[in-house]
Amino acid sequence: MSSTNSPKTWQRSRSDALYDQACALIPGGVNSPVRAFKSVHGRPIYFASAQGANVTDADGNEYIDFCNSWGPLILGHADADVVRSVQESAVRGLSYGACHVGEVRMAKALVDAFPGMEMARLVSSGTEAVMTALRLSRGATGRSLIVKFEGGYHGHVDALLVKAGSGLITAAEPGAEASSAGIPKEIAHTTVAVPLGNLDQLRELFALHGERIAAIIIEPLPANNGLLVQSKAFLQGLRQLCDQYDSLLIFDEVISGFRLHYGGFGHLMGVRPDLITLGKIIGGGMPVGAVVGPKKIMELLAPVGPVYQAGTLSGNPVGIAAGLETLCKLAGPKVYPHLEALGQHLETRLQQTGIPWLRGRRIGSIFWPYFDVGEIPTDAASISPVAVRRFNAMYQQVLQAGYYLPPSAYEVLFLSYAHQREHIDGLVQALANAAQGVD
Ligand SMILES: Cc1ncc(COP(=O)(O)O)c(C=O)c1O
Repeated sequence: MSSTNSPKTWQRSRSDALYDQACALIPGGVNSPVRAFKSVHGRPIYFASAQGANVTDADGNEYIDFCNSWGPLILGHADADVVRSVQESAVRGLSYGACHVGEVRMAKALVDAFPGMEMARLVSSGTEAVMTALRLSRGATGRSLIVKFEGGYHGHVDALLVKAGSGLITAAEPGAEASSAGIPKEIAHTTVAVPLGNLDQLRELFALHGERIAAIIIEPLPANNGLLVQSKAFLQGLRQLCDQYDSLLIFDEVISGFRLHYGGFGHLMGVRPDLITLGKIIGGGMPVGAVVGPKKIMELLAPVGPVYQAGTLSGNPVGIAAGLETLCKLAGPKVYPHLEALGQHLETRLQQTGIPWLRGRRIGSIFWPYFDVGEIPTDAASISPVAVRRFNAMYQQVLQAGYYLPPSAYEVLFLSYAHQREHIDGLVQALANAAQGVD
């Protein structure tokens, strides 16, 4: 096994200087909180360039990247075809704020990839896609309540930055506590958060409030608070409840869309939602999101219908070019088999270390390091503090060995088409080395 990609002496004076400067200029020094490395007892490194599986930081250290911009880079960094498409598009204009051929192609690609979906509205982020889907569900049903699952993150949408205890399920008034300041309780109270996997509790909730529930939103493969794989029966149960009470089922496939196959995870599970939100991969590393759904719901959007939604940069031609090129490569025969083989290799190598807790949960190219023994949880409340402590304690050593992981025990690693078996071997060696210092 190869052990390291970094220069012999790892030093970080330039990253540190940049972070000090950033802290004076940007709140917490970062433009998205998890980048601050708080939970892994560190300070961020500053990326200078990235190519394929590799990242080089401001001090010249090299890493194999297993974060991949939190999922969009399924082909790895700066894929040559994607970059070429971006360059060709850029010289034809950076933004039109007007209609263009790329957005029609993208909408067609999306409706073709998601059976039952007939129209797409393109936006600039996953958060925007989720906001739009919620508004649509409320516009379609004339109801205000949204059901989400504890620990689930769907972007920084006001109504979804909430948590609620199960006690609320049986209360006369649904209500939730905001998990961020700045969210009026009137908005937080339009959301009910329930534990994953508990259909009985959901049935109880719907029996009490079903006629007020606009939608259930769920990642069909919950992948941003661990990898909390749900059963097919649970997803089918959600579908049945929504049908029974005329509520909409929204699948947030911002992570899972095109990650495991050319399409959505819901399709793999045989469950069809009413709306799907997308982001990440469909932009190929550029800011693109989308809502897709059947015509009867999608045509509620302005300018056809009464649900308003807009965006200056929506359908941006350069972003769409990156996304279309990415989808074109994903539609070919090579990418998904390579990713599956890499994933299997990762599991095998971890097992071969003989360290019983050095393991995780994997589906395709998504891997959640779960460094504890016992059953791997499927709901947020069961995540072992020991697993979190071990991951956090090992993080810096693994980083210094040349492997960049998402800086949080609750996040998943993303394998990319640019990874090779030796990158996996090196990662596992680095993890096994770091595990020696942890109890
Ligand atoms: C499932 C899910 N939905 C929505 C979002 C929000 O997407 P974005 O960060 O592009 O706004 C994320 C972001 O990680 C996500 O994981």
